[in-house]
Amino acid sequence: MTDFEPRGAAETAIEHSADARSVEEAFDAENYRQAVIDSEAATAEAMRNTLLTPRFYTTDFDALDAIDVSPVREEWDSLIARMQSDPNRGHFKKNEDWDHIDWDGMDPELRAEFTDFLISSCTAEFSGCVLYKEMKRRGTNKDITTLFQLMARDEARHAGFINDALREAGIAINLGFLTEKKKYTYFQPKFIFYATYLSEKIGYARYITIFRHLQKHPEHRFHPIFKWFEEWCNDEFGHGEAFALLMKTDPKLTRGVNAYWIKFFLTAVYATMFIRDHQRPAFHKALGIDPDWFAESVFTKCSEISKQVFPLTLDIDNPRWMKNLRKLQRANADLAEAGKAPGKLAALPKRIGAQARAVAAFVALLTIPSIKNEVPATTRLEPAY
Ligand SMILES: [Fe+2]
Ligand SMILES: [Fe+2]
Repeated sequence: MTDFEPRGAAETAIEHSADARSVEEAFDAENYRQAVIDSEAATAEAMRNTLLTPRFYTTDFDALDAIDVSPVREEWDSLIARMQSDPNRGHFKKNEDWDHIDWDGMDPELRAEFTDFLISSCTAEFSGCVLYKEMKRRGTNKDITTLFQLMARDEARHAGFINDALREAGIAINLGFLTEKKKYTYFQPKFIFYATYLSEKIGYARYITIFRHLQKHPEHRFHPIFKWFEEWCNDEFGHGEAFALLMKTDPKLTRGVNAYWIKFFLTAVYATMFIRDHQRPAFHKALGIDPDWFAESVFTKCSEISKQVFPLTLDIDNPRWMKNLRKLQRANADLAEAGKAPGKLAALPKRIGAQARAVAAFVALLTIPSIKNEVPATTRLEPAY
């Protein structure tokens, strides 16, 4: 039986994933059940695997399960206790603060970009959810399974809430179908740590930047979901803290050749964000956010936070940084354009040219010297932005 099969009549379920105490309870909630009746286009979009779309991951679960957290015991226990106290239980559902949205009256370009934003955010949340849930299911190490159960719970609530927002626009992603059919990319645990740590922390930085901006400019809050971003990003911040501690259990993970891997992941994650955000001009205009300002602001916060565990930060003030990010973004736009051209063969030289420019720009970004960082003894940070 899969997680999403119909329940027997005798079983009872909670109404909403926001109130779930575990990921299993969230999957069984009424709002998850409704999403099984999906809209094909949205699910197809969530199924896409490109360099820029959220992926599903699998890893060496036994190696992860074997991690001994004793070197970081004190910080670990206080983090788990905070997550178990569960301040956000019941938060991720519509209430009286949820304003009505006239989806039909929305500017079509904004509507397309905003639904794309919601679909890709929902897929990313759910990607974390299935990875964490799988680790919890396979593990025997109590420290590890407890953490992953708590993180899966949070991500299930987040994904469920975005699906609620999408449903109002007549869209729902079939998360059960996604779990079964989407391709899983294998990453060894250390790469999961770098990628997931960064995605949690950059998620925090993105959401808090949007939230603070809209606090100052509520006239730009064109959808109520942004009101939920503060508690949301605090969850992500906590998940990032957990990965920082996991990396701290083994100093080798952030030394030697692994420092180069860290630099690679930082560059790839920042560049992907930059490209994706520049693909949504109407969305950013409606928010009153300049995507260049947004990128800089998020990179600055994320770099500052990542000093808690990474031995280096990217030199985002280097003039080559922005210059090559722009080149990469333009090459990517040309590539997308060539892909759409009716005469595929005729567009081939343009495609190859754009690909070569994208690779050259990425290599140029990677070769900017990074800034060395002395990692502090204690990892713990507060979400301070
Ligand atoms: Fe999340
Ligand atoms: Fe998260």
